[in-house]
Amino acid sequence: MTKPIVVVGSINMDLVARTRTIPRPGETVTGTGFETTPGGKGANQAVAVARLGYPVKMVGMVGEDVFGQALLENLAKAGVGVWAVDRVEGPSGVAPILLAQDGENSIVVVPGANGKVDCAYIDKNIELIRGAGMVLLQLEIPMETNARVMEICAEAGVPVMLDPAPATPLHGAALWNAAWFTPNETEAAFYLGRTMEPEAAAKEFLRRGVQGVVLKRGAEGAYVASQVPKEGPGTNAQSQVSKSRPGAPDSMKNIRAEWVPAFKVEPVDTVGAGDCFNGAFAVALMEGRDPWEAARFASAMAAISVTRRGAQASMPTRAEVENFLATR
Ligand code: RIB
Repeated sequence: MTKPIVVVGSINMDLVARTRTIPRPGETVTGTGFETTPGGKGANQAVAVARLGYPVKMVGMVGEDVFGQALLENLAKAGVGVWAVDRVEGPSGVAPILLAQDGENSIVVVPGANGKVDCAYIDKNIELIRGAGMVLLQLEIPMETNARVMEICAEAGVPVMLDPAPATPLHGAALWNAAWFTPNETEAAFYLGRTMEPEAAAKEFLRRGVQGVVLKRGAEGAYVASQVPKEGPGTNAQSQVSKSRPGAPDSMKNIRAEWVPAFKVEPVDTVGAGDCFNGAFAVALMEGRDPWEAARFASAMAAISVTRRGAQASMPTRAEVENFLATR
């Protein structure tokens, strides 16, 4: 039986105000529209997986408010397994978002229930995590909780894809033991302490212990670098997690690294595009594609999503992704 992808992370209601341009500090602008729409990096990644018809379960929390109910219903309707999601006292996570005409955005995340996802709750769901084919993590729940999930996965040999967003110092060496590390440009610069060329950046992240890196560069594409396992490049896809940190590469000799260009589209809303990429990348790896093929597939899904509004609402189905790829 196919092991599910398990997403441990945030579930938010996005409060999206559309404007011509994002206001500068101290400036007031008139908006052109407003909507509440389901989001949260974790939930977005889970919905991307579900849209592709791959089994996926969510581990996280929502509040006892109206948003909590709506968020849960939306996930279930998308095909995400939600039985492990707890409803807790207080508000759900929300994300006020300013969305400019050119598709760019700025986001404030207010954690609410996501901030209550603690290690005790994770331990309650330990069997679900141990039974995953892959676990997807982001950084919108407490850091020690993510570190605990990494520990469980390392012990059980479950590969983890860590999306280090929003950029937050990574406490816990275990977090560098991820099978895949997927920062965007700002996040990569945050973790490196400066802007670096993709090749140098990827090499540094691999040196820190991750087994594969995807540097997400929006309209430019993605730079995908992976340690090449003895059996061949594709096998890193569902790589077993070693209990110790892998050897630090001192050159790019045993590393395959290539750009995967983005598809050219007219963006209207880029919120959740990175999450869409991660969900699709995980599915494609689980289905046995090599990382560069998987990134091309993920990039197609993300390209479609930016031409539509909403984080989860914009995510296409597998048939749409395949049609898109067939025409390019
Ligand atoms: O990555 C996009 C997501 O970031 C939004 O849906 C918002 O909820 C924040 O978590």
